[in-house]
Amino acid sequence: MKNTENLNLERTKSRSVKGIITSIATREGAGFAVRRPFPTHSLSYVDPFLLLDHMEPVTLAPGAARGAPDHPHRGFETVTYMLEGHFVHRDSAGNSGTIGPGDVQWMTAGQGVVHSEMPDDELLENGGRLHGFQIWVNLPAREKLIAPRYQDIPSSQIPIAESEDGKVWVKVIAGQSMGKEAVIDTRTPITFLHAKLKPGAKLVQPVSSQYNTFAYVVEGKGYFGNEQLPAETDQLVLFSNNGDTVLIETQENQELSVLILGGLPLNEPVARYGPFVMNTQSEIVQALQDYQAGRMGAIS
Ligand code: FE2
Repeated sequence: MKNTENLNLERTKSRSVKGIITSIATREGAGFAVRRPFPTHSLSYVDPFLLLDHMEPVTLAPGAARGAPDHPHRGFETVTYMLEGHFVHRDSAGNSGTIGPGDVQWMTAGQGVVHSEMPDDELLENGGRLHGFQIWVNLPAREKLIAPRYQDIPSSQIPIAESEDGKVWVKVIAGQSMGKEAVIDTRTPITFLHAKLKPGAKLVQPVSSQYNTFAYVVEGKGYFGNEQLPAETDQLVLFSNNGDTVLIETQENQELSVLILGGLPLNEPVARYGPFVMNTQSEIVQALQDYQAGRMGAIS
């Protein structure tokens, strides 16, 4: 039996669920398959998050891997989190690197970069496992044209928090959980956690009531929010802003792998066109002109 008094205390502050969105299947870059809960017809963005792409776990045949060849970005940040396989990135500022299982690349595009995100040679030639995520985080108007920046964080440097009963594991990519604080520097206040719950586990994660917050089920099934609504693989749970914790539980026969994302909304107009996200249509036109004139550079 659960301790009713504690439960009531937690649930008075715990958020309810505003909606559950099932991802659509689509293709990105040169044709790699992704699951996308937003942007879709039912949910355009969760301020300040603009996009979530889940490269679902697949075993690729030799020659079947696809990436995203040279393309620009301006006005926001791309966050890549790999679980399996390796991606190589190169950009117009001369940066390059490889990210593998558990690693995070937090790229602030700012005024503009041209980059490529491709499977590594091993994955291209011999095939293999691939699983990962890309998340787009908007930048406030005052920072849309800042200088680009990369933070490449290897898995070994990303803090892991574990519950006392050993049933909850949390990778703290941004923000904090169970006393562990992230090492990544975000431009606006963000929480980004990857949590794994064993059967019969309970996570009560504090998230500022000012943050827009959602959970995305990577794999398994869990119960979310005050109402304990069920959600499973490829579903996004959008929380209401009516509390300062999110409650996630698993039943005795279920496990759950879930991303938890929260951020302080910018509350600014969003004008988006492909890889550019600005505040006005004229800024989008300017971004296109700058890209076409080569002012975002090129990959040598
Ligand atoms: Fe990109």
